[in-house]
Formats: sequence, structure tokens, C-alpha cells
Amino acid sequence: MKIAIIGIGNVGSALARGLAKTSHRLVLGVRDPSDAAAKTLAAEVKAELATPAEGAKSAELIILALPWDAAEAAVKALGDLSGKTVIDCINPLAMIGGSLALTLGHTTSAGETIAGWLPGAYVVKTLNQVGAEIMADNAGISPRPVMFMAGDHAEAKAKVATVLADLGFEPLDAGDITKARLLEPYGMVWINQAMFRGKGRNWAFAAVERT
Ligand SMILES: NC(=O)c1ccc[n+]([C@@H]2O[C@H](COP(=O)([O-])OP(=O)(O)OC[C@H]3O[C@@H](n4cnc5c(N)ncnc54)[C@H](OP(=O)(O)O)[C@@H]3O)[C@@H](O)[C@H]2O)c1
Repeated sequence: MKIAIIGIGNVGSALARGLAKTSHRLVLGVRDPSDAAAKTLAAEVKAELATPAEGAKSAELIILALPWDAAEAAVKALGDLSGKTVIDCINPLAMIGGSLALTLGHTTSAGETIAGWLPGAYVVKTLNQVGAEIMADNAGISPRPVMFMAGDHAEAKAKVATVLADLGFEPLDAGDITKARLLEPYGMVWINQAMFRGKGRNWAFAAVERT
């Protein structure tokens, strides 16, 4: 499948490296396709380079790897994504009272807000629950890290599940897009451990069962 990654910071570049090991074709959507670092990454992961709107238009699945404060303008500038599957890995974070915190929560979520900006697209909240390093490579981790997803469209979630599995995750369906209200605070559990509790970044959640 052709996948567009919009934004190639920590998460976008990690997903590009993870997906470069699969059979998916990649296009990197960047503000400046002539940028030297973008060209280097594109060569490394054998991806096309395009503007965000061109990249999104050419792909079947689009991954939004953007900061929350830039997301509204950047997502709306992608154009009409009707019928396409969109992965939203954005945690709606800001510094509030000196602490890193979610800016949305009980009554809506970034996932639902982004779905509202993209009428006709099938938005799936996922890949917000671990650090970028684990997205690039989790081959040495046992048991397989779990990755929840939330969205309203069953076919889109099935498509996303295959991509998550290709990245080494165990995909688990959390339900409709309102469940992004659960997955975004859940991402904060990882962030709190990694950044403020000394656990570091080289770990992920797993779903383990009594057999
Ligand atoms: N970092 C993690 O481990 C992690 C884990 C899970 C989820 N997340 C979430 O993933 C998202 C991305 O995080 P990150 O750490 O990858 O951020 P980052 O390193 O700051 O990268 C953000 C990327 O977005 C691009 N960008 C910014 N404004 C844009 C615009 N208007 N149009 C197009 N591209 C634009 C930036 O491009 P320029 O270089 O052109 O500015 C940059 O490539 C965040 O919402 C974060 O909450 C992060």
C-alpha cells in the first residue's frame, strides 16, 4: 500500500524507518521537499518526497505526525481526503501551569477533532502510545508491544491493523473514535514514565493473558 507520512520529525522519521522494512511504498510529505535532511531520509528509506498535500493525495493511507499546535492548519491544508484512511498519532499536548498536559479530554479528543477537520476521511487514532524509537524498531521486544486503535470505520481499522502488525505491534481495537479520549491519556502514561519517572524510552505496553 502507498503510505504518506506527513511530518518527518521524531515520529515521522521513525515510522519511515520502520515501514522501510516492509513492502509498503512511502511518500514523505514535508513543507520543503528540497531540504537536505529530508532528501537524506528519503534516500535512506527509499521514499518519494512531496509537499504534504501532494503526498496525501497520492497515498491510500496517510499518517499525521505533526505537533498539535500546528495540526489544524496543516491538516486542513491537505485538501479533500474523502475515502482515505488517516492515522492520527497526535497527542494534544501543551504546557499548562508549568506541566506537560493534555489540552483536551473528557468531552472530546484530538482524534475526534481531527476527524471533524477531514470530512469523509476514515480517521484512526493509534501510534500515540509509545515513543518514536519503538515505532522504528521493536524487533527485540518480547512479548510483542500492544497498540490500540480507535476509529469508526471497520475497513480502515483492518487496514491500519495490518500496518501496525507490519511494524511489529499487536493491534487491538479499542472501539469507535470517541475512544481516542481513552488512548490520549493512555499515551500520557507512557510519557510520564519515560520523561518524569526515570523509565527511559526503550519500552512499550504489552497485553498479556492467562492461557
Ligand atoms: N516523539 C514521540 O516519541 C511521540 C510518540 C507518540 C506520539 N507523538 C506525537 O506525534 C506528533 C509528532 O511528534 P514528533 O515528536 O515527531 O514532533 P517533531 O519532532 O516536532 O516533528 C514534527 C514534524 O511536523 C512538521 N510540521 C510542523 N508544522 C507543520 C506544518 N504546518 N505542515 C507540515 N509539517 C509540519 C515538522 O516539520 P518542519 O521540520 O518543517 O517544522 C516536523 O517534521 C506529536 O503530536 C506528538 O504528540 C510523539
